[in-house]
Amino acid sequence: MTLHVAIVTDDAPGWHGSRLRRALGARNARVQFVSLRACRIDLTRGCRGLFIPGFEKRVPDGVFVRGIPAGTLEQVVLRLDVLHALRELGVPVYNDARAIERTVDKGMTSFLFGHAGVPTPPTCVTESPARARAFLLRQTAAGHAVVVKPLFGSQGVGLRCLEPGTDIPDAAECNGVWYLQQYIETGAHDGDWHDWRVFVIAGVAVAAMVRRGATWVNNVAQGGRCEAAALEPDLARLAVRACAAVGADHAGVDLVRDRDGRLLVLEVNGVPAWKGLQSVTRIDIAERLADDFLSRRVAKPTEAVG
Ligand SMILES: Nc1ncnc2c1ncn2[C@@H]1O[C@H](COP(=O)(O)OP(=O)(O)O)[C@@H](O)[C@H]1O
Ligand SMILES: [Mg+2]
Repeated sequence: MTLHVAIVTDDAPGWHGSRLRRALGARNARVQFVSLRACRIDLTRGCRGLFIPGFEKRVPDGVFVRGIPAGTLEQVVLRLDVLHALRELGVPVYNDARAIERTVDKGMTSFLFGHAGVPTPPTCVTESPARARAFLLRQTAAGHAVVVKPLFGSQGVGLRCLEPGTDIPDAAECNGVWYLQQYIETGAHDGDWHDWRVFVIAGVAVAAMVRRGATWVNNVAQGGRCEAAALEPDLARLAVRACAAVGADHAGVDLVRDRDGRLLVLEVNGVPAWKGLQSVTRIDIAERLADDFLSRRVAKPTEAVG
């Protein structure tokens, strides 16, 4: 029987969606693009309490999450509810809503790194300006600058580096929660900014690149240049551990080396893009993802036997 799977995105098909659809189609899966905005909890219409366009009669055999649109707290909660509800109905969701929540929320990600013993820079997440200032003062006294990040940010947007003598941002600027982290010097000199992005699928690091930033924020969206990088064993091992700490099937892991060469994980992206990485690696990431999604998560044990 043909599998009928959903790719959740608001950018259909988009660069990533096109590649995924081709890879899934080549494995005999029929793909429907779905926007979470169009889904609803509905006990009167749809299937088993959920209305998902294109899946009115039968829930999907699997759901690949490529994007969750931003919105009000209520809108985002409803969109995540839909993914949680799919899991409750036994539908494989890739990545699962729990992993997406943990990775979207940088505070929770940092906690889980600490909990799992994954090396990460000293970090403090607080709604107390006094506690935020105390962290900043301790770090600056020890000779470190401090990075402030939006709790739910991505693509390097809204990051600030507080040099000694600078105060914490206003509460309004960070929605009442300060995410503060020790700044790690990553290059031999100022201007030599870089970090690593490692792509992990099913507990295996499959590709890596170095991103060389136009500023200390190395994201491709901020002008970072992608360079091919070897999957050094320590890089691969740590990326896999970081991914396991948040429970993601697949992820893009950001890492830096401090000036002593020690690797630290900055974050795990639970809805990772791979366009930049694909431009510098020979492996086909969409093919790998489609393989793992279908064979390990979607295929029912009874079907897999035959
Ligand atoms: N503690 C830090 N020390 C040095 N550079 C950092 C630090 N945190 C972030 N950066 C730089 O900023 C980039 C974006 O930070 P990240 O935590 O990955 O947030 P985003 O979700 O916006 O990508 C990183 O890829 C890295 O280049
Ligand atoms: Mg990042």
